[in-house]
Amino acid sequence: MPVHGVPLILLCLSPMWRILIAVSCPRQHTPCQLAERTAVCNNCKLSNVPESHRSDIETLQLDYNDIETLQDTSLQSYPSLKSLSIAFNRLVRIESNTFESSKLLERLNLTNNNLNIGYQETGLALRKLPGIRILDLSENKLDNEMASLLLQNLTSLEHLCLSGNILRRLDENSFRDLHQLKDLDLQRNIIFEIDGAFDSNAQLQRLNLAFNYLPCLTDFHMTQLVFLNVSHNAIEWFISRQELDSTFHLETLDLSNNKLLFFPFLPSKGNLRNLYLSHNIVSFYKHLADNVSYPNSTSTVEFFNVNQYSSNVTAQLWNDDLFGDVSALKVLDLRGNQVTYFPEGFIKNMPFLSSLHMSSNCLETLNLTSEQFSGTLSELDISNNRLSQIFADESTLASLGNLTYFNLSLNGLTELPFGLFSSLQSIRSVDISYNNVNICLSNDVEMSTDAIPACVDWRNIVSLRQLYLKGCHLKAIPSTAFTALSLTHLELSDNPGLVVQNSLQSLSRTLQHLGLGNTQIQDLDFSDFQSLKYLNLSRNSLAHLPPSLQNTDLKVLDLRDNKLSTMPSGQASALASKLQTVFLTGNPFNCCQTEWFRTFETIETLNIVELSKIKCEDLFQVTHSIENSQSFLCLETRDTILFYILLFVPVFVSLLGISVIILLTFKPKMLQKSIKKKYLKPTSY
Ligand SMILES: *[C@@H]1O[C@H](CO)[C@@H](O)[C@H](O)[C@H]1NC(C)=O
Ligand SMILES: *[C@@H]1O[C@H](CO)[C@@H](O)[C@H](O)[C@H]1NC(C)=O
Ligand SMILES: *[C@@H]1O[C@H](CO)[C@@H](O)[C@H](O)[C@H]1NC(C)=O
Ligand SMILES: *[C@@H]1O[C@H](CO)[C@@H](O)[C@H](O)[C@H]1NC(C)=O
Ligand SMILES: *[C@@H]1O[C@H](CO)[C@@H](O)[C@H](O)[C@H]1NC(C)=O
Ligand SMILES: *[C@@H]1O[C@H](CO)[C@@H](O)[C@H](O)[C@H]1NC(C)=O
Ligand SMILES: *[C@@H]1O[C@H](CO)[C@@H](O)[C@H](O)[C@H]1NC(C)=O
Ligand SMILES: *[C@@H]1O[C@H](CO)[C@@H](O)[C@H](O)[C@H]1NC(C)=O
Ligand SMILES: *[C@@H]1O[C@H](CO)[C@@H](O)[C@H](O)[C@H]1NC(C)=O
Ligand SMILES: *[C@@H]1O[C@H](CO)[C@@H](O)[C@H](O)[C@H]1NC(C)=O
Repeated sequence: MPVHGVPLILLCLSPMWRILIAVSCPRQHTPCQLAERTAVCNNCKLSNVPESHRSDIETLQLDYNDIETLQDTSLQSYPSLKSLSIAFNRLVRIESNTFESSKLLERLNLTNNNLNIGYQETGLALRKLPGIRILDLSENKLDNEMASLLLQNLTSLEHLCLSGNILRRLDENSFRDLHQLKDLDLQRNIIFEIDGAFDSNAQLQRLNLAFNYLPCLTDFHMTQLVFLNVSHNAIEWFISRQELDSTFHLETLDLSNNKLLFFPFLPSKGNLRNLYLSHNIVSFYKHLADNVSYPNSTSTVEFFNVNQYSSNVTAQLWNDDLFGDVSALKVLDLRGNQVTYFPEGFIKNMPFLSSLHMSSNCLETLNLTSEQFSGTLSELDISNNRLSQIFADESTLASLGNLTYFNLSLNGLTELPFGLFSSLQSIRSVDISYNNVNICLSNDVEMSTDAIPACVDWRNIVSLRQLYLKGCHLKAIPSTAFTALSLTHLELSDNPGLVVQNSLQSLSRTLQHLGLGNTQIQDLDFSDFQSLKYLNLSRNSLAHLPPSLQNTDLKVLDLRDNKLSTMPSGQASALASKLQTVFLTGNPFNCCQTEWFRTFETIETLNIVELSKIKCEDLFQVTHSIENSQSFLCLETRDTILFYILLFVPVFVSLLGISVIILLTFKPKMLQKSIKKKYLKPTSY
């Protein structure tokens, strides 16, 4: 038995032994840390590749050094190398035979160097890598010609990153030899034109062109592409090749932050799941077609292709049903556009839609019944539009059984379908902030007709967790409003004059986040709110903190803009021990009663937001920063008279002195006379 034990221990020790040797070596000898077959030599001020005494190193990291040239001999001692990273160096050149001995190299990371200087020789070197799969050339100041020369004959390349260079134009020569390319990152260049650039890349699946200067994408026909990101360009048109009969594989298309005027003309056969169009100027224009007000307006736009081989594109502008195949769409993000209505059948054509983000558009009405949203809908955000009404009949609401998030805030709604929320069986989060809605009184519900203006009711919605009712002009909350709910978040801020009565007590067990800012609320009993973590009491003219607060487990407390002058020190230390963030600015604190503040200050885990802006007033109503208020003379009230005496006597005395001096300065003769009288009497010798 012991015979077996010994080699086992040796085996365990040997890797450790190696690491120990590596670490204890003199720094200049081997600056690298070795683990398994990886050598990490980052941040060592190296100007050359350190020589290796082991021939089995597969991964070598040399990031953040000062290497300028990789010489023909640099990698000779790394015959097994598969992955090499020389990011963030000063590399200008890789000599043409550098990789002669590293034929196994698959991954090469050269980001943040100066390969624009020695790109020709570097190109020769790269061509000797038969198995290179992943190449990062980002941030190297490369232009079109440099890049296409560097990439010549790299037929095995699968992932290429060229982001942060100065590429302007891509054409059929740019990536001609990259037949295996799957993933291409061209973010943050200055590309304004693409002409047949990807025709040789039949395997390309992911293409990122974000942050460039493309003015349009017409005749899009890359059927093999799965992911395309063209966000943050200047795109006015996205038109896919219409007559193409093959199915596009595109699943994700990001066209956000462009200048699209029209909904993109998507492939007519496809599999698109995620479409991001936020921050464009997309609208629908049916009302302009065949309109007597615009008799001569044209209804087609033709794109003439400079390249004679590809066909011209004609788009029927006012035709709302030209959106292509949206039948697989799950996420549609149209935030920040100019949509005033949904064309007929638009939503109905998306039977798998799960998230629709429409915030900050111009929707005026919404008829959920006629739009026919799918039962798969889970998030609906129509906040910040111009909706005054929403319509839906009972069966429509019942069919939205998967809706969990519904944001209607910032709309001026005055009418809501009867029983809107109580019909949504999975709803978790509802935001109705900044509308003219009210909470139904209990008898409203019984005598229900469809005519009750904007009164919301959510009794018995067991799934509801978050309810946002900011700025709804609420005056009173019926005491039974929240019974049987298990809310964790409740926002009632910005309802000045709100009377909450006992309505909140039924939530005391579950509530974690409570917003009561700007409600003029005065005294509330928080003793039962065991789960409360966030409480907003800002802008409420509070002169005292509710004493029950010290029994809570609060992490965030907003007390800004109240009338607090101090805090009882027992309460302060109870609060401070649990709080993580506290907001205190805008209160008239008393500089002479800042013991509570010293308690807060000493707790290191407590973040006092805008500490330097918390002010206090001294005896003379002069404001100081509360941080430096220690040095002020503060006295008890009974000492105040003494204080005044002490203060005024010296002032009075100095004033008297000054007037005497002034008097004597202006009438100096008086002085001379008196001196003469007293001391210059003639002597009697
Ligand atoms: C190259 O290295 C940088 C810095 O370490 C890293 O951020 C980047 O992801 C790497 N590139 C690739 C393709 O792995
Ligand atoms: C690049 O590939 C072409 C065609 O396959 C070949 O003729 C040429 O010699 C190659 N160039 C280099 C430098 O390997
Ligand atoms: C597209 O690229 C931008 C910029 O890098 C990024 O913020 C965005 O998340 C990307 N879009 C997708 C769908 O990944
Ligand atoms: C014609 O255009 C005007 C102005 O945009 C619009 O108000 C009107 O509804 C349109 N008429 C038709 C028939 O769509
Ligand atoms: C429309 O076109 C016709 C013929 O081209 C022309 O006579 C007419 O004045 C135009 N109308 C307007 C409103 O431009
Ligand atoms: C595209 O339009 C131009 C200008 O009318 C024309 O010369 C060219 O032949 C058209 N190309 C095709 C493929 O139809
Ligand atoms: C909403 O749409 C349904 C179905 O198209 C229709 O019957 C109903 O009248 C519409 N409601 C309003 C108020 O337009
Ligand atoms: C909710 O979605 C699931 C699948 O995502 C579906 O089977 C179910 O019918 C949907 N519920 C309703 C009420 O439509
Ligand atoms: C609802 O939308 C508004 C405006 O877009 C946003 O500020 C708010 O955070 C959203 N509410 C929730 C609960 O996400
Ligand atoms: C508290 O509520 C006020 C009034 O709505 C708001 O301005 C403030 O941002 C809220 N505080 C926090 C920490 O969110």
